[in-house]
Amino acid sequence: MSTAPTVRVGLLGCGNVGGSLVRLLRENADDLTARTGLRLEVAKVAVRNTAKKRDAEIPAELLTHDAEAVVNDPDIDVVVEVIGGIEPARGLIVDALKAGKPVVTANKELLANVGTELFQTAAAAGVDLLFEAAVGGGIPLIRPLRESLAGERITRVMGIVNGTTNYILTRMTEAGATYSDALSEAQGLGYAERDPTADVEGYDAAAKAAILASIAFGTRVVAGDVYREGIAGLSAADIAFAARMGYVVKLLAIAERVGNEVAVRVHPAMLPTTHPLASVRESFNAVFIEGDAVGELMLYGRGAGGMPTASAVLGDLIDAAHNLKAGGSARTTTLERVTIHPIEELRSQYYLDIEVFDRPGVLAAVAGVFGNHGVSIRSMEQEGLGDEARLVFITHMAVERDMQATLAALRELDAVDRVGTMLRVVGPE
Ligand SMILES: NC(=O)c1ccc[n+]([C@@H]2O[C@H](COP(=O)([O-])OP(=O)(O)OC[C@H]3O[C@@H](n4cnc5c(N)ncnc54)[C@H](OP(=O)(O)O)[C@@H]3O)[C@@H](O)[C@H]2O)c1
Repeated sequence: MSTAPTVRVGLLGCGNVGGSLVRLLRENADDLTARTGLRLEVAKVAVRNTAKKRDAEIPAELLTHDAEAVVNDPDIDVVVEVIGGIEPARGLIVDALKAGKPVVTANKELLANVGTELFQTAAAAGVDLLFEAAVGGGIPLIRPLRESLAGERITRVMGIVNGTTNYILTRMTEAGATYSDALSEAQGLGYAERDPTADVEGYDAAAKAAILASIAFGTRVVAGDVYREGIAGLSAADIAFAARMGYVVKLLAIAERVGNEVAVRVHPAMLPTTHPLASVRESFNAVFIEGDAVGELMLYGRGAGGMPTASAVLGDLIDAAHNLKAGGSARTTTLERVTIHPIEELRSQYYLDIEVFDRPGVLAAVAGVFGNHGVSIRSMEQEGLGDEARLVFITHMAVERDMQATLAALRELDAVDRVGTMLRVVGPE
């Protein structure tokens, strides 16, 4: 019989992530005790429907639909929240922290929207609130950023943090699939929800970008601060053109320092095929970090899925349990509000495609519009002839405000039939 001290875990939610955590804890119980010196025991499991059949074997007496009772149970030492969404998760976490119980959560939506309140509550109570699984699923990101890179001045974090959109873009790039075919395929494989809005419109990536920016720069960034565009407007032609020019199109979450401000945005972007993030295919995630001393580094892996995410939750749970047994030493996070650099002031190169009427003087008129707004053209190609003619531009570095003014003026130009996709291009110039 093991003499290792027992830490009783109250699990809130037992779906993909919670169920996988129960399996990991059971299958690796002896190993975990040998390695950590603690016995982690799932003592109560709150779910919505206690009658539902579950993959993870859970004794009926542990299951309850009363999550509040789990949080308030004096026998519970640590709470793991894997319900998702804002309420009741927020209220349950606040109550657990106020009761002096460390909390581990995988809930990006909650942290990106009301994280400040939760961190303040954790700091006031002197207990841990850990959230490694909230960004990048199984990829260790939060702890490396917060601990290993604590002495580093990070300048930019750029990531592929949504597996659904990366899968769709990979199929569009490699199989020439249309957006809607690639989305249907992702839904068939279970990578995309029936309502894919949160993924394809970039909301999920924006929540993760806010968390990454907060941790990387020690600032308070919320989901509403993140400029966001999704991938639904991309065509197979845009992606094929990017490929011919030596680029791939990826949905990127980018957080960077600009002077004393922080710029945070999510949008599809053209990346040179030589960039390490360009090789991140299918539903994999990766985050590319740039710092003054460390230079460039990349963390890569499974950004979602029950088991990878549960692995990250388990790491936090062990950490929280250790801290608790060592006297509740909490890692407090006090983040100052920061000025958000407006998207209009972004400096970037741009890709733009426009359909034009086949008339004399069209090129000069179009080029004139770019010139009038101070946007200089790096390359231009014509595709097709006659009324099928399409002009594809890549600009030199320009200011977003000027590029938007160029787009507006092009839409008014008689020679232009349609202004198509505009994409930001990630260096080199
Ligand atoms: N799945 C992933 O790949 C992944 C990756 C990274 C982060 N996350 C995050 O992890 C969290 C959980 O995700 P998931 O995929 O495991 O979700 P899920 O499969 O939908 O599971 C949610 C669980 O919460 C339970 N629940 C719902 N409302 C409840 C309530 N009011 N009281 C008690 N239990 C309640 C459900 O009960 P029933 O089982 O009875 O319905 C279910 O067991 C979310 O915050 C998500 O964003 C997930």
